Formats: sequence, structure tokens, C-alpha cells
Amino acid sequence: KRPAGAPDKELARKITKVGVIGAGLMATQFALLFVRRLQVPVVITDLDQERVDKGVQTIRSEIDALLAKKRISPDEANRLKALVHGTTDKADFADCDWVIEAVFEELTVKQDVFADVEKHIAPEAVLATNTSSLSVEQIGAKLEHPERLVGFHFFNPVAVMPLIEVVRTPQTSDEVLATAMATAKNLKKNAVITRDTPGFVVNRVLAKLLGEAMHAVELGTSFADVDAALAPLGLPMPPSELLDLVGLRVGAHVLDTHHRAFPDRFYDSEKLHKLAEYGTLFEKDKKGAIKGF
Ligand code: CAA
Repeated sequence: KRPAGAPDKELARKITKVGVIGAGLMATQFALLFVRRLQVPVVITDLDQERVDKGVQTIRSEIDALLAKKRISPDEANRLKALVHGTTDKADFADCDWVIEAVFEELTVKQDVFADVEKHIAPEAVLATNTSSLSVEQIGAKLEHPERLVGFHFFNPVAVMPLIEVVRTPQTSDEVLATAMATAKNLKKNAVITRDTPGFVVNRVLAKLLGEAMHAVELGTSFADVDAALAPLGLPMPPSELLDLVGLRVGAHVLDTHHRAFPDRFYDSEKLHKLAEYGTLFEKDKKGAIKGF
């Protein structure tokens, strides 16, 4: 049975080559998923050669880790590595039929990245954004063909989190939405179609949880006690670890975006913004044990 709002799957287009813009934490994780599950060439780019090389190296190391765990054969590891290419030249995106970005969560940065890449790709190529809380429609504001844009929001760690939020804007075409749904399925993920509203569904709920956890810390309860207090709720990981996993800068940005959109309903934690400057809530001591802040 077709999920509510899902388009006819016959409309889905075939993906033969994937372009990934950004070579950071999320981008490298899903680049690996695309190459492994779709078995098509994946080209990855970033601002400079150093970042591109680092991203490609991360993907190759993850392929080696899959091999070491015997999840893939040596032949497959070699095949997957051969399918991944780093580039700083957008002309290499010309024959991609699916281009997805995970660059810095700043509206103008994402708008400019897409306006630029659109000059290099075919008219029917899909553009997907992994934004976690910006408006997908606004990200497409500078596109000549905004109907080709869809939100495709992964969760960290990409390899294990089973969900993708597929975000439809008022302009997203049925063909593009069907392609996104088929792609999620081919990546072996569950997909839900969400409206283009701040935080979609998952981050909306997480922003509430993490904002209130930070507020309790600001009022004097320790991180450790907040974590312990929430343990009986059965969360897969304590709030402090979740913040550390998604990155404090990303966490602070998510709270900020929700607070701006709904000032009366979401808490934006000044403390989290300050902690984000340190980068982590945890430190390794001399023996390598991880200690909370
Ligand atoms: N990166 C990659 N893989 C990871 C990982 C990481 N950071 N952490 C764990 N894994 C993998 C492990 O390697 C293991 O894989 P294998 O089975 O192949 O060996 C698998 O996950 C299970 O790991 P563990 O045995 O250590 O299992 P666990 O029970 O401790 O679970 C977890 C780890 C899956 C991360 C779990 O704690 C969890 O689900 N946490 C919640 C994560 C979450 O809520 N993510 C959403 C964040 S919000 C977001 O991403 C969106 C945004 O826009 C901000």
C-alpha cells in the first residue's frame, strides 16, 4: 500500500551516478551508503583539494572497516573504492542524475552551492539537501528549476539509523519525490514524507528534548544527573552523548533555528553555544578514559 502523500513509484527515475557536495561527517557517511547500496559511481567535492582528499580517505577507511568486519569481500572492497572519486571541478558532476549536499547549515551557502551546481547538471537531474532544519523551499530559491529539489535528511550514524525524512516543498515534482522514495528504499532505509517546516519531525522533537535538558543544566543540575534522570525513558543514548554525536555546533544551530521559528515554544541555550566552541562535552584523560565535562 502506498504511504499517504507518496507519488506513483512508476514515476521514479533511475540513478546511474551520484554527486555529493561536502566531504564532512555526514557527507562521507552517506557517500559510502550510496556507493555500497546503489553500486554506482559517486563523485564527492568540497571547498579545496585537502578537504576532498580527507573525505575520500575517510570513505576508503570505512570500506576497509567493513572488510575487516567481513561485511564485504576483498573484491567488493576494491570495487567500491574504485567507484569513489574526489574532485574540485563541478564539471565532473555533469552526468550525475542525483546530487546531494551536506555543506555548512547556512541558507545562503546552500543556495549558492545549488545555484552553482545547477549550471553543470542535466535538466532532469535531482538535487537533494541533507539540511536538518533550514527551509528546503528557501534553499531552492535561486534555482532555475526548483521542482527538482527535495529534502533527504539522514540521521547520525548514517549506517545504523534506519530513517530518512523526505521533505517535499510546494514545488517538488512527483517524479522527484518518487525518485527520492525509491532511492531511500534502495539504500535500505525507511522513508517518511514530511512537510517543509522547521526541524521537519525528528529534529523538532529532539530540539525540545535537548533544549529542555540544556535548560536543566543551566539551572544547576549536572549533565550526568540529567542523563541519569532521563535513562528510564529508554532513549537509545543519553542527551549529552547525543549532543556529542551530532556535534555541538550542529546541536546549537538546531536549537537556534527552532527558537527563531517558534520563540515561545523552543529554548535556545546560550551555554550550548559556548560549549560548542570547545567542540565536545567529553574529554579523554591521560589513560584514554572518556570523562564528561
Ligand atoms: N558511527 C558509525 N557507526 C556507529 C557509530 C558511529 N558513531 N556508533 C555506533 N555505530 C555502529 C557500530 O559500529 C555497530 O555497527 P556494527 O553492528 O556494524 O558493528 C552498530 O552501530 C551498533 O553499535 P553498538 O553495538 O555500539 O550499539 P549501541 O547499542 O550502543 O548503539 C547507536 C549505538 C546506534 C548509535 C545508538 O546509541 C543510537 O541509536 N543512538 C541514538 C542516535 C540518534 O538519535 N541519532 C539521531 C541524531 S539526530 C541527527 O542525526 C539529525 C540531525 O540533523 C542533527
